[in-house]
Amino acid sequence: MQLFDVYPLFDLEPVKGLGSYVYDKDGKAYLDFYGGHAVVSVGHSHHHFVQRLQEQAAKMVFYSNSVQNPLQVELAQKLGALSACPDYQLFLCNSGAEANENALKLASFHNDRKKIIAFKGAFHGRTSAAVNVTDNPRIKAPINKTYEAEFHEWNNLDSVRDSLAKEDVSALIIEGIQGIGGIHVPDASFLEEVSVLCKKHNTVLILDEIQSGYGRSGEFFAFQYSNVVPDLITVAKGMGNGFPIGGVLIHPRFKASYGLLGTTFGGNHLACAAGLAVLEIIEEEKLVENAKRFGQILMDELKGFDQIKEVRGLGLMIGMSMDFPIKPLRKQLLFEEHIFTGSAADPNTIRLLPPLNINEQEVDQFLKGLKVGLKNYTPTANF
Ligand SMILES: Cc1ncc(COP(=O)(O)O)c(C=O)c1O
Repeated sequence: MQLFDVYPLFDLEPVKGLGSYVYDKDGKAYLDFYGGHAVVSVGHSHHHFVQRLQEQAAKMVFYSNSVQNPLQVELAQKLGALSACPDYQLFLCNSGAEANENALKLASFHNDRKKIIAFKGAFHGRTSAAVNVTDNPRIKAPINKTYEAEFHEWNNLDSVRDSLAKEDVSALIIEGIQGIGGIHVPDASFLEEVSVLCKKHNTVLILDEIQSGYGRSGEFFAFQYSNVVPDLITVAKGMGNGFPIGGVLIHPRFKASYGLLGTTFGGNHLACAAGLAVLEIIEEEKLVENAKRFGQILMDELKGFDQIKEVRGLGLMIGMSMDFPIKPLRKQLLFEEHIFTGSAADPNTIRLLPPLNINEQEVDQFLKGLKVGLKNYTPTANF
């Protein structure tokens, strides 16, 4: 059997990861400023994470959601405490798309409506309902377009206000910081006004914190830079540091009933151990503060580069946009400077999403590598 060939691959095979580095099969180290797509939050193979997983795997990997699982309760309590959302309820699932799928479904159950507001440049996943609110027609099959999804300009309150006033919108879904679209931070006042309007018109406000959450922005959730109380908050990516786990944080005004949502694998014992290990490390090593500190240092330094047109972001979720398509530069950084960076839907933007526990030496190495990469930049380089 062959693989279904849907991913363009770099000619590189990492075989080991440690902290902010991955190593190829010849032992060459690569600085991971991509975090394996914003996933590696507490660093590759962190000793506490590895130990927690090993111990749990030796005890019990999985049993179904028909029995008591105190690890789920412990995870919900720890997440509530660290995120300053202790009153929310947690539904556990396996990925970001699944979290958004369940959030959209909950909203529709709640107000019996179907229309959804999303934003230009949005990415919310590839499953049926989630992909319909993703602003990319190429990845939507006819079967996905079963309800009306409206895409509004980022930060444009007037159009959102007009649409919500029709009182037929089930949910408004927005990323805490727009990621794949190219790192765009919403204005706090925009989010706050949207939140008030959603409440007024009985529209459910869903904050997609799948990429921007779990400390990446320098707050536990990026929306916490503003004064809003979302109805639903979706999480995944950094939540398991690479172990597949996702969740929906659900405001207490939503009442659960048996069978309303469900999954076979969501919240399994091993996933909960991974989720708990991540939170314990975030707390112990003060990684939210570390993300804020090094994010600020990085952004200040990057603003001093002549070749970078704009630096956007918060904490360790940073976009650098150039005057030129960044594809050759990214390859140059990877194969010559041995630094992983991320792309975006915007062809001129590089995304930086390193582990939250990067240190001074790693930031320094990145900045030096970028300087050399930009100096040697050859648009036609063939790697
Ligand atoms: C903001 C956002 N939402 C949802 C998703 C989908 O997550 P997953 O790939 O785990 O389904 C992503 C993935 O990149 C994302 O960045």
